[in-house]
Amino acid sequence: MGPPRRAVYGRGVLSPRLAAMVDALPLAPGMRVLEIGCGPGAAARAVAVRVDPGHVLAIDRSATAVRQATAAGATEIAAGRLRVRRVAVEELALEPGEGPYDLAFAVRVGVLDGRHPALEQRALARIAAALRAGGRLVVDGREVPLPRG
Ligand SMILES: C[S@@+](CC[C@H](N)C(=O)[O-])C[C@H]1O[C@@H](n2cnc3c(N)ncnc32)[C@H](O)[C@@H]1O
Repeated sequence: MGPPRRAVYGRGVLSPRLAAMVDALPLAPGMRVLEIGCGPGAAARAVAVRVDPGHVLAIDRSATAVRQATAAGATEIAAGRLRVRRVAVEELALEPGEGPYDLAFAVRVGVLDGRHPALEQRALARIAAALRAGGRLVVDGREVPLPRG
C-alpha cells in the first residue's frame, strides 16, 4: 500500500480530498460553474477540464490566492475555459454581459460554514443572483438550498 493516489485532470494533480469533491459535483460538458474561495485554483482547473467547452469563474477574496490561481491556471485561462476574479462572495455581482452560472460550489470556505449566519445569508443571496433559475449550490459536497427572490 502506497500513499493515496492523486487524481490527474489535464495539467497538474489534485489532492484526494479535492478530487472527491470534484467527482461529487453534478458536472457536464458546456456548463458554467462558479467556484467560491478557490484558493490556488486546483479544483477550478479540474472542473474547467470536465465542463469544456463550458466555463469556470473562480473567485477568492485573497489577492495571494487570486495570483496563485491565475498563474497556475494560465493554460485554461488562455483557452477561455477559466477566469479568476478577486471578490468576496458576499460582494459578488455579475458583470455587464456576464451570463449566469449553472452551478456554484465551495470547499472549506468559512463564510459558508454556518458560523456567521448574517454574512452567510448575504453570500447566499449573491450566489443565488449569479445562478440561472434552477441553478444549484454545493458546499463541501452537500447541496445547499438557495433563497429565491
Ligand atoms: C481554506 S481555503 C480553501 C481553498 C480551496 N477551496 C481548497 O479547499 O483547497 C479558503 C479560501 O476561501 C477564501 N475565502 C474565505 N472567505 C471568502 C469570502 N468571503 N469570499 C471569497 N473567498 C473567501 C480564502 O481566501 C481562501 O483562499
